Amino acid sequence: MSTQMVNLNSAFAPATNGERAASMDEIRELARRRNAIILAHNYQVSDVQDVADFTGDSLGLAIEAQKTDAELIIFCGVHFMAESAKIMNPEKRVLLPSLAAGCSLADSITPESLEEWRSRYPDHTVVTYVNSTAEVKAMSDICCTSANAVSVIRSLHSDKILFTPDRNLGNWVKKQVPEKDIVVYDGACPTHDVLRGASVSKVRSAFPDAVVIAHPECREDIIALADEVCSTSAMLDRIARHPEARTFIVATESGIIHQMKKRYPDREFVMADGCIGCRLHCPYMKMISLTNVKRSLLEDKFEITVEPDVMEGARRTLERMLAVPRDN
Ligand code: 13P
Repeated sequence: MSTQMVNLNSAFAPATNGERAASMDEIRELARRRNAIILAHNYQVSDVQDVADFTGDSLGLAIEAQKTDAELIIFCGVHFMAESAKIMNPEKRVLLPSLAAGCSLADSITPESLEEWRSRYPDHTVVTYVNSTAEVKAMSDICCTSANAVSVIRSLHSDKILFTPDRNLGNWVKKQVPEKDIVVYDGACPTHDVLRGASVSKVRSAFPDAVVIAHPECREDIIALADEVCSTSAMLDRIARHPEARTFIVATESGIIHQMKKRYPDREFVMADGCIGCRLHCPYMKMISLTNVKRSLLEDKFEITVEPDVMEGARRTLERMLAVPRDN
């Protein structure tokens, strides 16, 4: 199943607090009646994060999808994440509330481009970031997320690695594992790749004591000046490593701020571009709203399917990944 063209306005219907609370109660009741679990990524809009049974990073969501007893998974994230949940649970129904929730990074590598690239490196092991389609996963040797990329690569017997599709994550991993020959594909997440070190330095000059916390999908100049580099859920734990710090400059998609504020209400969080949601905003993640989560539960929209000939190979690469522990 492919994604649809994006209507940027569809997810932003205004609601009063009362309407929002009523809508959340209704969704929870519908989910209970249908034996459904609601999983939400840390980049989702706050209301969707709050109505979810579990909020996490890509790895946490894949683990949760693997262990749930629920019959139905409502996946509030982007298409490749819902697809991974389906691959881990072929017997369950997985619904993605909006088919517009795609991922330009996942779209940057196709089975054809991977085949062509791999043919030039026949001795290399293919490590594929989960931000990829099921077809690409099925052609790979193992998957990784930003939470386990270093451990995944260290766990491999091979010293020759092809890392796809995210160039920034690949280059960051390369620095952590210099003993391996890692060739990196030229894909990037536009939400992270747009940020420049100069903008972050400017924000830091206004908060000289702040801790800079960055996602490894950011470019090298951001990574170089960051105090912590990790997955979105690891960011929430890393904040606790800085009990003296009052302010954190956050270099990732703005949705994570909601969990940060919930967990650390006495700290200040500043977006690394100096502006909440201006540039560090993933339009695809924001396609999911309370309205379409409710519609999903009422009308079974939109069911994720994976071709049977792709399913087995994609599951093998995800299961191999899940056998490797988180980086830290
Ligand atoms: P995390 O796995 O760190 O949550 O990141 C997911 C992602 O898609 C980042 O753009």
